[in-house]
This record gives sequence, C-alpha cells and structure tokens, in this order.
Amino acid sequence: MRDLEDLAAWMQSRDVERDDLAPSTLPDPTFICDGRELVSFSSNNYLGLANSARMKTRAHAALDQYGVGNCESRLLGGNLQIYEALEARLAEIKHKDAALLFATGYLTNLGVLPTLVKAGNLARAFGYKPWANWKHAFFTDEFNHLSIREGIRASGAPAFAYKHLDMDDLDQKLESSPAQIKIIATDGVFSQHGDIVPLPDLMQIAERHDATVYIDDAHGTGVLGPTGAGTTEHFGIDSPRIIHMGTLSKAYGCIGGFVATEPHIVEILRFGCSAFGFTSTLPPDQAAALLEALDIVRDEPERRQRLWDNQRYFVRRMCGAGFSLISTETPIVPLHVGNEGQCMRIAAALREAGIHVDAIMFPAVSAGQSRLRFIMNAQHTTGQIDRVIDALGRTAA
Ligand SMILES: Cc1ncc(COP(=O)(O)O)c(C=O)c1O
Repeated sequence: MRDLEDLAAWMQSRDVERDDLAPSTLPDPTFICDGRELVSFSSNNYLGLANSARMKTRAHAALDQYGVGNCESRLLGGNLQIYEALEARLAEIKHKDAALLFATGYLTNLGVLPTLVKAGNLARAFGYKPWANWKHAFFTDEFNHLSIREGIRASGAPAFAYKHLDMDDLDQKLESSPAQIKIIATDGVFSQHGDIVPLPDLMQIAERHDATVYIDDAHGTGVLGPTGAGTTEHFGIDSPRIIHMGTLSKAYGCIGGFVATEPHIVEILRFGCSAFGFTSTLPPDQAAALLEALDIVRDEPERRQRLWDNQRYFVRRMCGAGFSLISTETPIVPLHVGNEGQCMRIAAALREAGIHVDAIMFPAVSAGQSRLRFIMNAQHTTGQIDRVIDALGRTAA
C-alpha cells in the first residue's frame, strides 16, 4: 500500500495539526478532557437534551424492556411498536401523514435521495411496467451537507449545483433542464454557514417548475419555528411537494434520522431503500428517549427561548467587538478566518483558555474559507459567552 504511505506522509507534512480531543464526559456544555474542564461551543446539543434526566429515565426503562440493541432489519423481524410510535410523532411535528426512521441522518440522505430515482427500476424486477421512462435531475445548493451531495451522486441522476442561496441561479438551472422529474435539495439551516434557506422564494420557484423539494432540516428541527418544528414552521410554509428530512442527533440529543412525507413515498422507501431495509435501526432505548425529547420540546419552550437569548447575546457581543461573522441568523455562528493553519492556531489558543470550538476546513467548506464554528446552546451562561469573547480578543491582539 505505497499509495497510502505516500498520502500519510503528505498529510503529516501539512501545516494543520490533528485535533486529538477525547473527553471523558459529554459537553453539558462543560466537559472534562485530560483532567481539565472545558466549555464546549461545538456541540449540536442545542437544547441541552443529551443529558436530560427525563430522557435518561425513559431510556433506562426501555433498556430493561428491550435490551441494548436491535439485531435485525425492520424489514425482516426487527420492527417494534416503539419505532412506529416515534415515526407517528415525527410525522405529526412536520404536519405529514407518514415518516420513516433511519439509523443516522447521514444514512437517511445517502439512502433516500438515490431511492427517489431508482425505486422504479428496482420495481421492474418484480414486474412493474412504468408508463414512461422518467428522466430525473437534482438541483442542489453548492453548500449542501456532504451526505446530500453523496446521496445525489449515488442516484446516478444528473445534478446541477446552484450558487449558495441564489434563487435566480436555481430558477435558471430548472428552466434549462429537460428532466421531467425535478428535485430541489437544500439544507434548511446550512451546517457550516449558519444561514437559512429562503424557503418562500424557493417554494415559488418549485411551484413554477413543478419540482419536489427535499429539505434537510438537521439544524432547524427543534430549533426554528414557534414550536421548534423547523424551517418550514419558521416561514409558515406547508406543501405536499416538500419531503422533510431531519436528524435526531442534534436538538433532540440522541441519534437517528428520518423523513416525513406523503404516505405513498414512505411506502416506496420502505420497499426500495436499502439504507432502511438492509441495515439495523437505532436501538430501542434511543427511540424511547426520543419520544421523551419530543414531549420536552413541546412542554418546555423556555429551552428554545434560552438558546435564542444566548444566540442574540453572543452575536451582539461579537459584532460589538468587531469580529467578522459569516452569518447571524441561527445558533450556528461561524467566525471567518480563511487560512487553515491560522484557524487551527486560534482554536488551540481558545483551548488553552478552556474553550472548545471546531475549526472547520476543507472539505467541509471550500479551501481558504476556514472558520471557527461557534454553536450556541440553551445551557451556556453569559459568563461562559463572555469568556469566549475575551479569549478571542487576546488571541487576535
Ligand atoms: C445538514 C446535515 N445533514 C445531515 C447530517 C448527518 O446527521 P447525523 O449526524 O445525524 O448522521 C448532518 C450532521 O452533521 C448535517 O449537518
């Protein structure tokens, strides 16, 4: 494997140090690493649910009832009532009639997007005769999450990347496409940028071109909208052309992914999506914890309130101190740095000051667009936020 030795040598020679952080506790939002306490500004545990007492109690009961794992695909003998109960709740929050669970959000995108294109071909093997040879095409924001881009690639359908949030570019690309089935794929909240898709404009364009809209709302679900239902609720939009995708690993504090959509599409995914049928799903205690998480998000809006209070305080103080923020719309607030080595050095200096923040670099963002991605959390105190700004001031001085 001389190619890998060669590659490893090149990686070592780069001006970028590997981040070897391996804490012994979860960020809550403080955590212990090598005997030191650090404050995390990098976790997607937006509402502080990952260590929720209510969720742990519910998960403990499910561990006793079901055991630690589910060693079978749901398509075979691995289905459980608790998964169906969770799917029903997930469908409800997205105002849809059906939902389907996956082991992770990444797997959801990797599995669902190709199946939207390939399910018809698979069904041919069982005797299905479509009345047309449909031509599909994807239209994808250039900064969509990698799992969307990989899912689209796996579909084999032509894909047209439009400029980030540029609705005119999207419109033109749809206009010039001869495809009969057009699918627009977008993050709801962009994970590395923190900005929100301009959904009202995008929906108008989708209507005009009769396109389906696939929204990955990993970072909007639980966070945006009056009840935390996500980006569509934030804009007050509901449409049968939307396929909602979400992750359970962020605001809900657990693991898993889902789509919520029309029942016939869920049935097609159940039949044709190997990421659903040829793998095991999340363990039942996670499903139990998630049912509790959905109740908490409904019953305790003050968590979301605290998250947004913290977000506004951080943004106000950062802007006041003259820092160049990439966006200020959501709890993901990235600080532009540019150079990768410099980004790692600032992250290391913050670490020295007891603060952990992720340095985001290529391929998560374009080369030269490195950033420190601050993620706000309902549990941060103003004192912890002040510490970041003071430490950044010292680092930049
Ligand atoms: C926009 C987006 N989609 C999908 C995923 C994958 O989700 P998961 O971590 O639940 O697999 C992420 C994870 O960071 C994400 O940010």
